Amino acid sequence: MELSAMKTTSILFSFSFFLFLLPVLPLASASVTAPETGASSGASLIFATLDRSHYEFDIFTLPTRRRPPSASMEIRITDGESVNFNGYFPSPSPALLSLLPDETLIQQETVTPPLHLIYITERNGTSSIYYDVVYGQDSGSMTKRSLLESSARVQVPLLSGADGRSGMTVNSMRDKPSLIGDYLVYVSTHEDPGVPRASWAAVYSTQVQTGLTRRLTPRGIADFSPAVSPSGNWTAVASYAERGWAGEVEELTTDIYIFLTRDGTHRVKVVEHGGWPSWVDDSTLYFHRRSEDGWISVEDGWISVYRAILQKAGPVSIESVTIQRVTPPNLHAFTPATSPNNHEFIAVATRRPGDEYRHVELFDLRKNKFIELTRLVSPASHHFNPFLSPDSTRVGYHSCRGEANGWRSPRLFLENIQTTSPKLSLFRIDGSFPTFSPSGDRIAHVNMPGVTVVKPDGSDRRKVFPGMAFSTAWDPVQPGIVYTSAGPTFAKERTEVDVIAINVDADDPSTSIRKLTTNGQNNAFPWPSPDGKRIVFRSGRSGHKNLYIMDTEKGESGGLFRLTDGPWTDTMCNWSPDGELIAFASDRENPGSGSFELFLIHPNGTGMRKLIQSGSGGRTNHPIFSPDGQTIAFTSDYGAISAEPISNPHHYQPYGEIFTVKLDGSDLRRLTHNSFEDGTPAWAPKFISPRDVAWPRMNNCMFRDCHWLNITTTNTKPKGLGISC
Ligand SMILES: *[C@@H]1O[C@H](CO)[C@@H](O)[C@H](O)[C@H]1NC(C)=O
Ligand SMILES: *[C@@H]1O[C@H](CO)[C@@H](O)[C@H](O)[C@H]1NC(C)=O
Ligand SMILES: *[C@@H]1O[C@H](CO)[C@@H](O)[C@H](O)[C@H]1NC(C)=O
Ligand SMILES: *[C@@H]1O[C@H](CO)[C@@H](O)[C@H](O)[C@H]1NC(C)=O
Repeated sequence: MELSAMKTTSILFSFSFFLFLLPVLPLASASVTAPETGASSGASLIFATLDRSHYEFDIFTLPTRRRPPSASMEIRITDGESVNFNGYFPSPSPALLSLLPDETLIQQETVTPPLHLIYITERNGTSSIYYDVVYGQDSGSMTKRSLLESSARVQVPLLSGADGRSGMTVNSMRDKPSLIGDYLVYVSTHEDPGVPRASWAAVYSTQVQTGLTRRLTPRGIADFSPAVSPSGNWTAVASYAERGWAGEVEELTTDIYIFLTRDGTHRVKVVEHGGWPSWVDDSTLYFHRRSEDGWISVEDGWISVYRAILQKAGPVSIESVTIQRVTPPNLHAFTPATSPNNHEFIAVATRRPGDEYRHVELFDLRKNKFIELTRLVSPASHHFNPFLSPDSTRVGYHSCRGEANGWRSPRLFLENIQTTSPKLSLFRIDGSFPTFSPSGDRIAHVNMPGVTVVKPDGSDRRKVFPGMAFSTAWDPVQPGIVYTSAGPTFAKERTEVDVIAINVDADDPSTSIRKLTTNGQNNAFPWPSPDGKRIVFRSGRSGHKNLYIMDTEKGESGGLFRLTDGPWTDTMCNWSPDGELIAFASDRENPGSGSFELFLIHPNGTGMRKLIQSGSGGRTNHPIFSPDGQTIAFTSDYGAISAEPISNPHHYQPYGEIFTVKLDGSDLRRLTHNSFEDGTPAWAPKFISPRDVAWPRMNNCMFRDCHWLNITTTNTKPKGLGISC
C-alpha cells in the first residue's frame, strides 16, 4: 500500500534517490534577475508541487504551564490566509513596537497581554516575513473561534521577497526568522552560488526600518535553520560548509556553526553532525541528530535532541565543546525549541512508535520526561517546528487548518506565484502533469489516479480517464484529443504501459479511448508533432527505455521510427513548436545512476546535442518548449535543498525547482524558491494574468509526514524507486 502510494506520488521529477558523492561539473551560471521569455506579449508557466495544495498552515499556540491542555486552550494566532509557518515569539522591544501604528500602542495598555508573532507567510504569490500582534478580549477564554471573532489584529509586513528593497528577487523561501533588536535574521535563497547542486540557502540580516541587508553566510556555503543567542551576539546554523550537498533528501549531513550575528565573522564549527540549533544561553545550545541506537539497527537510529555546552560565550574550539544526549531512545524527538535561560524544559516535535502523527511535546530537563501537548488537543494532525515565548509560558507551532481541524478554508486550484517580470506569470496547479489545450481554454492534468480536464478558471472539471496514468499532451490539430500514458509510473521496461488517446469531448471519454501502442511493454510520455501527424514517445520494448516515433492515427501498427538507441534511459520527450527539435531527458552519460541531463535531437535522428549538464549525479528532467520555441522550462536539483527536510511535510525530492534556459544553453533562470518538490512544468499558449483560482472545495489537510520518520517493525524502510522513468 505504502509503496504504491510512493510510486504514484513522486512523479513530478521522476527518478531514483540514489545518492552520489561525485565531483560536480559546471553548468552555465544562473541569473536571478527578472525572468523573461522570448514571447513579446508575455508567457505563462504552470507547474505541480507534490501535496502542497493540501497544507494550509496556520500558527497555533498552547500554554506550557496549564496542564493537561484542552482543545479550548489552543489559539490560532495567524489569520487563516494563505500558508503561515515557522513562527517566532519576539520580545516586544521598543524597536519592534515602533513598527506598530500609534493607536495599537494605546490599545495594548487596555487589554490582556497581546501575542506578538513573527512568521513566514506565503501570500499574494510570494513569501514574506510578517509581524502580527493579536489582542484577545480575554485571553483566559480565548478559544480558536472566539479569538477569530473577537480579536483585533495588527499586521506589519516586515520583509517581502517581492519588494526589491533588500535586493531580493522572487519567492525566496526562508526558514525560522528571528528578530534581535531591529534586525531580522532569516534564510533566503536569492543568490546563486554559481555551482550546480549547491544550495542557495544563506543567512541574512535586515534592519527592518531601513531594509539594510547583510549576508552573514560566507559565499559558497549553505546555512539552514538559524537561531540567535539570547544576547543576540551569536547565531548558530546547520551548515554544509565542508561537505556540500550530496543529494540527501532525508537527514542532512550538516554540522553546527556559530558566528557573530553582527557581521558573520568569528565563524567556527561547534558540533559535528547536527541540525536545528536553539540557544538557552550564550554558551548552551540544543540541536537534533540521528543517534547510534535504533529499533533495528544503527541505520534506523533514533533522532534525538542533544545539548552542546560551549565552555564560554563566544568562539570556542570544537574540542572544548561538551555534548550530551538529552532525549531518550524509543521515539524520535527533533526540532528543539528553547527559551532564554530556561533550564527547566524545552519543546520538541516527536514521532512515537504506533503514532502516525508528529506532535509537539515539552521535555522536562530535570525529571527527564516528556509532557505531551498537541496529541491531547488534536491527535490526528501534524504539528511542526515548535517555538517558545521568551517567558516560556507559551509554545507555538504550525499545523494545518482545514476541515479536519474544524476550519473550512478553500483550496486553490491555481496558485499565482509572483515573479519579478510582468511578462511572466507562474502558477502552481493542484494536480500534476498539467498541459494546456492548443487554444488555452482547457487544462488536462493527472490526479491520482486518472486524468482530469478543467477550464483555467476551475470550472467544467471532468475526469476523462479513471485508471492509473501519467503525462498529458493535447493534439495540436484535432480538438479535444489528449494523449497520456496509461499504467503505473516508475515501472520496469517490460511492464505494460500504453500510449492512449482520449477524446475528452465524448459523452463518456473512458469508452472513447484509442490505444496507440499494443506490444504490452512500457510505452509512455507521448508528445505529438506540431502538425499532429506523428507522436514521439519512450518505450522499454528493447529492454531499455529509448525514444520512438509513430503515426498519430495508426499508432504502432503503422510502424515505428526508432529515434534513439542505447543501453540507457531516454524519456520525457517534447516536440518543438516548429517541428525541428525534440527535447528529452537522458541518463546516457551515466546509465542507471539516476543522473539525468537534457538533450536535443532532430526528429530524423540527426543533430543530437546536450542542452544542460546538470552536474554529476544531478537530476534535470521534464523539458518543455515555450510557445515561441526559444526557451525550455524544466525541473532540476541545480539549487540543491533549501531547508532541513525534517522541518517540512514529506517530499520525495525536496530539491525540485523550476528553471528556464535558452536553446543554446545560456540564460539559465530559477523561477521557484522553496523547500518543496516542484515539477512537471508546462507553458500556456498565451499569457494568463496572475491571480489565484480557488476550487469549489475545501482544504482537506491530506499530506504525509516524512516517511523516513516512520518507525517500522521490520527493516523495510523504502530505499528508493529505482531509476525507471
Ligand atoms: C494581496 O492582494 C490583494 C488583492 O490584490 C490586495 O487587496 C492585498 O492588499 C494584497 N496584500 C498584500 C499584503 O499585499
Ligand atoms: C555580547 O556582546 C557585548 C558586546 O561585545 C558584550 O558586552 C556582552 O557581554 C556580550 N554578551 C554575552 C552574553 O556574551
Ligand atoms: C534532419 O533534419 C534536420 C532538421 O529538421 C535537417 O536540417 C537535416 O538536413 C536532416 N538530415 C537528414 C539526413 O535528413
Ligand atoms: C507509517 O506507519 C504507519 C503505521 O504506523 C502506516 O500506516 C503508514 O502507511 C506508514 N507510512 C509510510 C510512508 O511508511
